Amino acid sequence: MPKATIPDLGDLKGKKVLVRVDFNVPLDKKTGAVKNDRRIRSVLPTVRHLLDAGASVIAMSHLGRPEKATPEERKNLTLDRVAAKFGELLGVSVTKAANDVTGQAVTAAVAALKPGGVLLLENLRFDPREQKNDAAFAAELAALGDVYVNEAFGTCQNDKDTSMVGVPALFKAAGKPRAIGLLLARELEIIDGLMAQPKSPVLGIMGGAKVSDKVAFISALLDKVDHLLIGGKMAYTFLRAQGVDIGSTRIGDEEVAAAKPLLVHVGKKITLPVDYVAAKSDDLLQTQVCEAAIPAGFEGVDIGPKTIEQFKTAIHDAATIIWNGPLGWFEQTAFSRGTQQIASAMAASAGVTVVGGGETAEAAEQFGFAEKMTHVSTGGGAFLAYVEGKKFQSLAQIDEQ
Ligand code: 3PG
Repeated sequence: MPKATIPDLGDLKGKKVLVRVDFNVPLDKKTGAVKNDRRIRSVLPTVRHLLDAGASVIAMSHLGRPEKATPEERKNLTLDRVAAKFGELLGVSVTKAANDVTGQAVTAAVAALKPGGVLLLENLRFDPREQKNDAAFAAELAALGDVYVNEAFGTCQNDKDTSMVGVPALFKAAGKPRAIGLLLARELEIIDGLMAQPKSPVLGIMGGAKVSDKVAFISALLDKVDHLLIGGKMAYTFLRAQGVDIGSTRIGDEEVAAAKPLLVHVGKKITLPVDYVAAKSDDLLQTQVCEAAIPAGFEGVDIGPKTIEQFKTAIHDAATIIWNGPLGWFEQTAFSRGTQQIASAMAASAGVTVVGGGETAEAAEQFGFAEKMTHVSTGGGAFLAYVEGKKFQSLAQIDEQ
C-alpha cells in the first residue's frame, strides 16, 4: 500500500506544515554558493501545493556535516544562501527563521507566519541533537507545526535523525496528520516498480569509486537485471581482483576484497569494459587506450571507445536501464566521454531510464540529459539503500493511504 501523501491530509487552510526537505546541496568550495539546485527544485510542487491549499510552510533541512567541519567551513553551512535560492525558485520570499535551529526567536517567527508564508529553519545539524533521535529536540521541532510532511527522500535512510524519525513519531503518537511529499511518493513508486516488475530486458550500469559501499546494492541488482555493466573506478577494482595489472590506479585492498566474491558473475551477468583510457599520473595530458593491463605510471580514468560502443548497444537493446555511478573521472572534461555517452544513450532510449542520485544525477544534469530520463533520483545513499530493500524508520512513521 502506498504511503499517505499530501492530498490525503485533508483541509490545510490556516495550518502550519512542518516539511522535512533534503537541501543538502553541493556548494562551491570557495564561495559557498549553491552549485546544483536540483534538490530544491524537486520539492517545489509539494510546497506550492501546500501554499495553494492555504497553509504556511516551515521547511527544515540539514546541510553538510557541520560536526566534522572547521569553523571556517561551518560558516558556509548556514542555510542563508539556500533560503535565498529556495525563495528565488519558488517565487515567494523565504526567510530563515533564526540563527538557532529552535528556541524563542524561531517560535516567534513561526507564530508570526501567515498562510502563504514560508520559513526555513537553520541547518538542523547545527544542533548536535539532530543526529541522536533526541526526544527533547523532537518535541521542540514538533511544537512548530500542526502537520508533518516528509519530502526528504535523500535522508530517509538516516534512522537516527530526529527530524526524520523522532518528530513524525511524536505526530503519530498524538494522532496528528503526517504524510510524504509528492517527490518522495514518486521516488518510492518508481523504485518499487523497478524492483517488483521491471520491463525486461533489464540492464544495470554501475560506476563510481567504491565497491565496498555497494556490495548489497550490486547483489540486489543482480537479482533483477539481465546484464550489469561495470565501469568507473569500480571496473579497475574488478580487474585488480582478477590479477590484472592496473598500473598506478589507486585501489585499496579492502575494495579488492569486496569485489572478489562478485567475480563469479563476470562474463555471465557482469560485463567489464574491454578497453580503458589511462592517463599518466604525473602528466594527465598524456593518455593511451589500454585493452588489457594498464602500464606503470598510468591510471585508469575512463572507459575506452570500444566499451562505449558496446555499452551503447546494450542500452539500445534494453527496456529498463538503471544507472548508478559515473563511468570515469567525469569532472575532468578530457575524461568525461564515457559518462557523457552513456547518459546520452540513456536519454535517447525508448525504455524506462532511472538514474541514481548523488554524482550520477549531477553528471546527467551537467551533460543536459536529466530531463530526458524517466526519473533521476534525489537520493544518493537512500537510493542504494531502498533498492537493497532496507526498511526506513522515517517511513514507518507515516501511515498507509
Ligand atoms: C545525502 O546527501 O545523501 C543526504 O542528504 C544524507 O546526508 P548524510 O549522508 O550526510 O546523512
